[in-house]
Amino acid sequence: MFSKANINKFQELDTPFYYYDMGVLRETLDACRDASVKHGFHVHYAMKANFNPRVLDMIQSFGFGADCVSGNEVRAAIEHGFDKGKVVFAGVGKSDREINYALDADIFCFNVESVQELEVINELAAAKGKKANVAIRINPNVDAHTHHFITTGLDENKFGINIWQLPDVATALRKCASLQFLGIHFHIGSQITDLEVYKSLCTRINEMQDWFEDHGFPVKVLNTGGGLGVDYYSPDTNIADFENYFQVFKNFLNVKPGQEVHFELGRALVAQSASLISRVLYVKNGKKKNFLVLDAGMTELIRPMLYQAYHQIENISKSQESRIKNQDNSSPATANMQLATDIKYDVVGPICESTDCFQKDVDLPESFRGDLIAVRTAGAYGEVMASGYNLRDRVGSIYSE
Ligand code: LLP
Repeated sequence: MFSKANINKFQELDTPFYYYDMGVLRETLDACRDASVKHGFHVHYAMKANFNPRVLDMIQSFGFGADCVSGNEVRAAIEHGFDKGKVVFAGVGKSDREINYALDADIFCFNVESVQELEVINELAAAKGKKANVAIRINPNVDAHTHHFITTGLDENKFGINIWQLPDVATALRKCASLQFLGIHFHIGSQITDLEVYKSLCTRINEMQDWFEDHGFPVKVLNTGGGLGVDYYSPDTNIADFENYFQVFKNFLNVKPGQEVHFELGRALVAQSASLISRVLYVKNGKKKNFLVLDAGMTELIRPMLYQAYHQIENISKSQESRIKNQDNSSPATANMQLATDIKYDVVGPICESTDCFQKDVDLPESFRGDLIAVRTAGAYGEVMASGYNLRDRVGSIYSE
């Protein structure tokens, strides 16, 4: 919910922009740190969720590590002060240049996604006279029960090494003298709200670590990946359920003495801290449809168009009405509850694509050109997925203190 002072400030600014509530970010990071530290768990922030410099600086200041998926993310993590001993590098398509960069940077570990990649890292490390730490990313074939576009741990997904290929991994590890096997890595998908899924993941991790130990590879690191979801229907309820999330792993993961348990959280750390703020450019009232045409579109926030993702939309210029509406919107079932004065709008962007629509049939107070519209819970996979399509300006960002 935005204060009057916020709205007054927004009114003076050019739109669109991302507004970061640094207080919410701090509160979220605090909650995650408290909930993980008490079990001795290590959290790496999945930088792909948001690499805004101010966001990175704050996350780094909490002592989290960094989970990176490109050489540039590794570089950004180090430049923003993340301890290189807490930097991991995943991704199915690491180029030789990126691997060399990460080897030179002496990162903690490569999360390796194919047998061929093991051999390439081995060769490149040997050429530098180095030993590379590796964890094997295993595709556990566990269904994350999330949108199929953001499911990663099923046999049909491109990520990780399938269980039936593990004998080849063992053979490769035995002959690759420039690799140091550290442990096993998993990531089954994103925006997971059913914690039961993580129990199945724990079962699979326990089986897999036994497999490696039985084949002569002591497992020091169990990396469970990320994926914890947030409630997009209650943007003012700020904190993801870190307590119960970590408790599942505490209860169901078979952690042996000396082992470290690692997590790679992205969305749950940053999603609730930002909103996309835009203005109504035009109101088009038709016979069948009313359209609110915003000055932000799929080039600023592509999640609704790409994954049919829900983000709550508010006309914050009509904050009084929004406030009443918000009170009614405490659960998904009432999210679109209509007020007597509300009008149904398709809220669309300016991009020349029919799919450039944030949401259809949104109940909003009667809206006018110039009204400020907030698209909430946009801190994860928002600004970072912005594009220049239609030769658009790069979206800006502003921050609370
Ligand atoms: N670890 C690995 C190996 C990953 O691939 C990902 C996300 C994460 C950790 C962090 O997952 P999180 O905690 O944020 O769920 N663009 C999509 C989400 C893609 C997630 C990709 N991988 C979206 O907007 O929903």
